[in-house]
Amino acid sequence: MTKFLNKWFRQIHRWIAIPTALLIPIALIIKLIGNPEVVAFWEKWDKLPSILMLFMAITGAYLYLLPYIVKNQRKQKSMQP
Ligand code: HEM
Repeated sequence: MTKFLNKWFRQIHRWIAIPTALLIPIALIIKLIGNPEVVAFWEKWDKLPSILMLFMAITGAYLYLLPYIVKNQRKQKSMQP
């Protein structure tokens, strides 16, 4: 199970990183320039960077904890008779 989650969370984290890294500066530039038409259009998509960041935070938190989870599993296994 840990191997499966490791593979898929890492893949999700890696692939969502690309649109996240593109959208956050795009959103900032749109707001700084402040063209009313573009701002009105962007309002529909404004939540997207936050949703992507949420996925990055969840998968990133798992990847962060992974070494500790694996360590704990090894310890548990070595304690079995
Ligand atoms: C929001 C909180 C985030 C957390 C807690 C987090 C945490 C992590 C962790 C723990 C790793 C694994 C490092 C390793 O052991 O190899 C990782 C990998 C990575 N992170 Fe994040 N990250 C976050 C956000 C982001 C964002 C915003 C981006 C880019 C837009 C990003 C891009 C990447 C990439 C490209 C990798 C390498 C993935 C791979 O191994 O293939 N992360 N992150």
